[in-house]
Amino acid sequence: MTEKISDDELMASNAGAPLKSYYERHIFFCLNERKNGEECCAQHRAQEGFDRCKMQIKAAGLAGPGQVRVNKAGCLDRCAAGPVAVVYPEAVWYTYVDDHDIDEIVESHLKNGKVVARLLIPASLGR
Ligand code: FES
Repeated sequence: MTEKISDDELMASNAGAPLKSYYERHIFFCLNERKNGEECCAQHRAQEGFDRCKMQIKAAGLAGPGQVRVNKAGCLDRCAAGPVAVVYPEAVWYTYVDDHDIDEIVESHLKNGKVVARLLIPASLGR
């Protein structure tokens, strides 16, 4: 059984040090599939994009704590821009079409912290 840590203990354990994120960057890919025919990211290569990103991060030796985590997600409620992925901690929202787009997100943003402007989702696009 895991011992529960109180808020005071948590604060004390980080006293004097800035809180450090478990992952340097975390990317979530919407893989949502709608069976009723409504638009969804699964209709737009979302699984392929996720698989490509995961493979590239692993091949680069960037997967794991202190580095990059690639995660599946359900609907992120920005379906009109699909397929979508979001990178934290920067909260940068991307769309993508092919492997080249994924590779650019990996190389530029996930490895080097530089946002890929051409793949950004317009702020007005939601569901
Ligand atoms: S189905 Fe992907 S954001 Fe909604």
